[in-house]
Amino acid sequence: MGKSQNLYKEAKKIIPGGTQLLSKRPEMFLPNLWPAYYEKAKGCEIWDLDGNKYIDMSSMGVGSCILGYADEDVDNKIKKAIDKGSMATLNCPEEVELAKELCKIHPWADMARYARSGGEAMAIAVRIARAKTDKDLILFCGYHGWHDWYLASNLANDKSLDGHLLPGLQPKGVPRKLRNTSIPFNYNDTEGFLKLIKANKNKIAAVVMEPIRSYYPKKGFLETIRKVTKKLNIVLIFDEITSGWRLHIGGAHLKFQVYPDMCVFAKAISNGYPMAAIIGRKEIMQAAQDTFISSTYWTERIGPTAALATINKLKKNDVPDYLSRIGKEIQINWKKLAEKHNLNITISGIYPLTNFTFNYKDPLILKTLFTRLMLEKGFLATTSFYASYGHKINNVRDYLNSVDDAFGFIANVIRKNKIKKYSKIPVCHSGFRRIA
Ligand SMILES: Cc1ncc(COP(=O)(O)O)c(C=O)c1O
Repeated sequence: MGKSQNLYKEAKKIIPGGTQLLSKRPEMFLPNLWPAYYEKAKGCEIWDLDGNKYIDMSSMGVGSCILGYADEDVDNKIKKAIDKGSMATLNCPEEVELAKELCKIHPWADMARYARSGGEAMAIAVRIARAKTDKDLILFCGYHGWHDWYLASNLANDKSLDGHLLPGLQPKGVPRKLRNTSIPFNYNDTEGFLKLIKANKNKIAAVVMEPIRSYYPKKGFLETIRKVTKKLNIVLIFDEITSGWRLHIGGAHLKFQVYPDMCVFAKAISNGYPMAAIIGRKEIMQAAQDTFISSTYWTERIGPTAALATINKLKKNDVPDYLSRIGKEIQINWKKLAEKHNLNITISGIYPLTNFTFNYKDPLILKTLFTRLMLEKGFLATTSFYASYGHKINNVRDYLNSVDDAFGFIANVIRKNKIKKYSKIPVCHSGFRRIA
């Protein structure tokens, strides 16, 4: 309980919900003990307000810092952009350069628009699709942000989004009239998807989904969706905000060779600087001219400068290959260590974005205990891991040594039937809820 936790207590009095992002709430990790604020971060190291140093083996800025914290190549470009003026009455040329670069990497796309965060970029893509088709209904799969078009899905059934990354999202404040304007389907459930298409055929503006998240697509799943949407003139939007640039330069869909009508990037595209891009086929993207989509800060210079520098470094160093190697090492060793300690866990996810769950009656208690044991050893760690170029092999080795100890401790707790003892300590939250 140092300065960081004390500051968080103050924050909760003047900032509703404490933080701006659910996934940065300390309650999501280790209530009362997670070092909520950082003083500085570099590579995969991060210092809290009391000067404690941790190795970040959790999400690296919720997936945004794919190259590691404070990457010098990106930051040097940003410093120059600041010196030249990051904002002006005229536009910055970097946004044209970036559009050219994105269209070169994605030969199926002809045009790009920009925003500065993932959720708003998804809202733009949905707006363009609705404008293009003159239809309202969106079929979607997965998490796509906080905007009305998405939360509207929970108006008809407030559990409808529970299976899509974040459970418990309340649609309070979303106009009730948006009920039945967005309907979810499950990843890899081709039949379920086709049923929804059949029932709503002429009403659908867009199908919105991540091409991959926790599992590889089943054979034919993405291809069927592509074929059906093309046939019915439904806009297919891939959300590569989290999956993008990790498995393949430009996004997982290029690896799978399934090409959408629009694709959205944020987070990993700019290594922690606010930036988002919506790319697409000209015929669809031109509909952005028939609806008002416009914002002052979408024109500043840092975002596109960061994206150009990040993409350049990702390409030059084949970072997706590096992330897969690091993630694979972690997955293999989670499995080995769990077997060593006779611990029942399920490992899932793609190598660069991997996670495990404890297969016991009280998984959240064990997850909290794991985070606490790892924190004591100097790691920010939970049950999921986002690989970054800032993770070096010695960081991985040190981490796995501590996982060995933590798994051993937890296995002992389970064996001796002592889980209840740890339920008295505040347990991490698993989704959205109001906090005191
Ligand atoms: C797939 C996906 N879409 C959209 C978003 C929302 O992005 P942001 O938090 O930048 O608004 C996220 C964020 O986690 C995401 O993972």
